[in-house]
Amino acid sequence: MVFDEILSKRENKTIYRVGGYTVKVFEDDYPVTDIFSEALNNTRAQEVGLKVPEVFEISRYEGKWTLRLRYIKGDKLSDMIEKDLDNAEDYIRDIVTLQTEVHSKQSRKLTMLTDLIKRNLSQTSFDSMTRYDLQIRLESMPKNYKMCNCNFIPSNIIISDDDHSPYILDWRLATQGNASADAVMTYLYLLYKYKDKVAELYLDMFCEISKIEKWYVKRWIPIIAAAQTVNANEDQKRFLFGFVDVRKYW
Ligand SMILES: Nc1ncnc2c1ncn2[C@@H]1O[C@H](COP(=O)(O)OP(=O)(O)OP(=O)(O)O)[C@@H](O)[C@H]1O
Ligand SMILES: [Mg+2]
Repeated sequence: MVFDEILSKRENKTIYRVGGYTVKVFEDDYPVTDIFSEALNNTRAQEVGLKVPEVFEISRYEGKWTLRLRYIKGDKLSDMIEKDLDNAEDYIRDIVTLQTEVHSKQSRKLTMLTDLIKRNLSQTSFDSMTRYDLQIRLESMPKNYKMCNCNFIPSNIIISDDDHSPYILDWRLATQGNASADAVMTYLYLLYKYKDKVAELYLDMFCEISKIEKWYVKRWIPIIAAAQTVNANEDQKRFLFGFVDVRKYW
């Protein structure tokens, strides 16, 4: 295999461009089931008609698991926003419109978002009162079955040079559940990465376009912030800890 360029490098995986493909090469400690579920979720998103890079194969290369997808040539929305922060509004509108399209889809075999949240919450080390409050809040939320990417952030959206439409990458964490919970994941990411202006703009626009009340979306904040501490680094954890108090978000 001839690797043309490295697109991204993480502790346990490296993503390469290989001709017209993207090949993710996983280190030995990467859970193999996560590779298969990323590919499966990606095909589910494709099956419901969303524009995503097609999956070509899961294979082994020099002993390492690899996942091959179609390479989408184009501009990443994160690069576009960062170059033009003053006009963030246009990009945020595109993000919300696309995310709302994902939420309009259903794929009933996806993992339930609430199950994933419960699993994460059980792995946190908050005191028993905080965990109880979070559990009660989660149980009080309505049940829904909307397709959620759960990592809907600007670096996972590419505007294709070929057809000028946005493609959604990275279906590793996709689930079915509440659109507002998915939106809060995006909101917290934008707040951490780009601070208030962009994040609040996003939340306002999500509520406007989805017609979901902001007070209701905000009720998800403590639950999602707490659940996300499980996979966060120390700096992200410090940030997320500021949002887990349910009394701040009635
Ligand atoms: N199919 C693709 N076409 C073009 N670029 C891609 C493709 N898949 C991944 N990339 C590039 O690699 C980066 C990381 O890919 P992806 O988001 O799928 O992996 P990840 O596991 O979430 O890693 P990261 O934590 O870096 O986001 C993307 O932001 C993009 O730049
Ligand atoms: Mg990503």
